[in-house]
Amino acid sequence: MAEAEIQSGEKEYFLNIPQQNETFFLKGCANYDWGFKNRLARIFNPRSGKTVMLAFDHGYFQGPTTGLERIDVTIVPLTPFADALMLTRGILRSVIPAATGKPIVMRASGGPSILKELSNEHIACDIDDAVRMNCSAVAVQVFIGGEYETQSVNNMTQLVDSGMKVGMPVLGVTAVGKELVRDAKYMGLATRMCAELGAAIVKTYFCPDFERVAAGCPVPLVIAGGKKLPELDALKMAYDAIQQGASGVDMGRNIFQSEAPIAMLHAVQKVVHEGMNYKQAHEYYLDQKNKKNA
Ligand code: R5P
Repeated sequence: MAEAEIQSGEKEYFLNIPQQNETFFLKGCANYDWGFKNRLARIFNPRSGKTVMLAFDHGYFQGPTTGLERIDVTIVPLTPFADALMLTRGILRSVIPAATGKPIVMRASGGPSILKELSNEHIACDIDDAVRMNCSAVAVQVFIGGEYETQSVNNMTQLVDSGMKVGMPVLGVTAVGKELVRDAKYMGLATRMCAELGAAIVKTYFCPDFERVAAGCPVPLVIAGGKKLPELDALKMAYDAIQQGASGVDMGRNIFQSEAPIAMLHAVQKVVHEGMNYKQAHEYYLDQKNKKNA
């Protein structure tokens, strides 16, 4: 039968169309393996190249942060409107429905609470468990300039090594100690170190001259939201970060502590994926919020 098909000459090989060699859409990520890239492409929207990650991992060192006392009640309803979820494995297993289609970025470092020296973290999750839970990346805090700087860098490089074996990207989170200034010089140092030492994605804070930080980081950079700001200010921060080279946000308190978290998530999506101006996005936020209250 197979021989008959070959002889019939009916097969179409499109001999005039060369096979396309697609380049990967994220900066600095072209040379990873298929599974690794596939995970990245779940976190970052391939059309815009950007992501809106919802971060609610704060409990891993802060306990029940305001807004996260009952993640099942306040956060699970927000998850359909985020591109990816950043959380701990404890919350993933205990609260997040396994049927969620959202890519998971799992916190994989920890140890000290807010009562102790925060930089004294260790790896807090085996890469096998991240694979078991079908995670799309693992996140590790890196404390450049902190007391346990080298140890935290070592946590990251160990996770990068084990991640490479299974195709799991590592998100390096640049943590800022109380005594460290959040300026472009410091952020440039911390983000570049994370990328040079193997992080596929780096998370940092927005700061003046952010475009220099973004330009100096050879892999996608996302910004944390930080403390709760008025919605207009948070949207401006997200807008400025995107315009200056960020590949997205990994935002927590400015979403889940907002008066209207779903409206805020929608507005942040507009800023990140569509480049909507922050003033328009704020109008959009108010509109969505009022619709809900109508
Ligand atoms: C903090 O250490 C956690 O990694 C948070 O995920 C991160 O700070 C983002 O949350 P927020 O936008 O509330 O700062």
